Amino acid sequence: MALQFAAAANRTVLARRHQHRLDQTVAEVEYRSRFRNWEWMATVRNNPTRPLGIDGELFFTPELVPAMAHPLPRESDPEIQKNVLVHRLYEYLKFTIDLEQSAVIPVTGHISRGMAGLDLPELMRSDAFKIVTDEAWHAQFTYELMRDVRDRTRVAPALPDTPIFTGVLARIHEEFPSEIRGLDELLFAIVSETLISSTLDDLPQDHRLPEGVRETIADHAEDEAKYHAFFSTLLRFLWPSMTPREQELAGPYLPRLIFAFLEPDYPSVALGMAASGLPSEQVEQVNNDVYTHERVIEDVRRGAAPTLQYFIEAGALEHGATREAFAEAGLLA
Ligand SMILES: [Fe+2]
Ligand SMILES: [Fe+2]
Repeated sequence: MALQFAAAANRTVLARRHQHRLDQTVAEVEYRSRFRNWEWMATVRNNPTRPLGIDGELFFTPELVPAMAHPLPRESDPEIQKNVLVHRLYEYLKFTIDLEQSAVIPVTGHISRGMAGLDLPELMRSDAFKIVTDEAWHAQFTYELMRDVRDRTRVAPALPDTPIFTGVLARIHEEFPSEIRGLDELLFAIVSETLISSTLDDLPQDHRLPEGVRETIADHAEDEAKYHAFFSTLLRFLWPSMTPREQELAGPYLPRLIFAFLEPDYPSVALGMAASGLPSEQVEQVNNDVYTHERVIEDVRRGAAPTLQYFIEAGALEHGATREAFAEAGLLA
């Protein structure tokens, strides 16, 4: 799923054709780097892998697991409930590894090497190298945490080979108009990196969880907080440098990219509940009851609010077709 070189080269030509407009845009966009203290702040430089420890009775905050509000898991055997949380943690950790390795690192690597078809400040390119390093470290320590949780709990992960979002992204990539193919990956990286998941924010605060889980996720949150400025600025360079036609072609895909990131991975949730010991008919009922259409839309809309604001500020919703797609997807209040 690497950015297509042809598309990147194409975009460079288009960017040059619109140099005047681009120059105006670049003059207006200011980049404030959050990486000046990277050597002293980055967790890859300063925080070794966290030992899991022996404390902690729960492996995920139950209040953040929709299924745990349902009577079937809630009234089930305590061992099943405990395992549902372990599997939810596995699902989150696997998602994180796949996101870093398959979606964020390839795109950011292209930016660092000046291959994203954008004329970015030198400081952004050098910061992109640091983000690639950070994200590779996140994938690594996330993998190590998953392995440590497995060894301590003796609960084997039950996960699909690939999370659902990678399949959704592959389909979008195929459908994406050929002249701008590659932009889908850049836009998805912007979507994912301008959101902080509630998991990153909330899990470190929950002292029912093992210290190693809390500290590892806190390390991740600390690094991720620095990326918002980078990726929101990237969007402010990117969107105005696109021609009106490119904007019109790409814009209607944005809601699907947002859903790819935020929509629950239903098959993975079901696998985790089944592996926890919940009978299959109950698993189906829980998923049907918990993930109603309205609730999913509401959750995605709430989760997408920061990204939506960045896209509005960049001018992405000025196109009718894009606005319509957002409205249809239920993402406009
Ligand atoms: Fe990360
Ligand atoms: Fe990230």
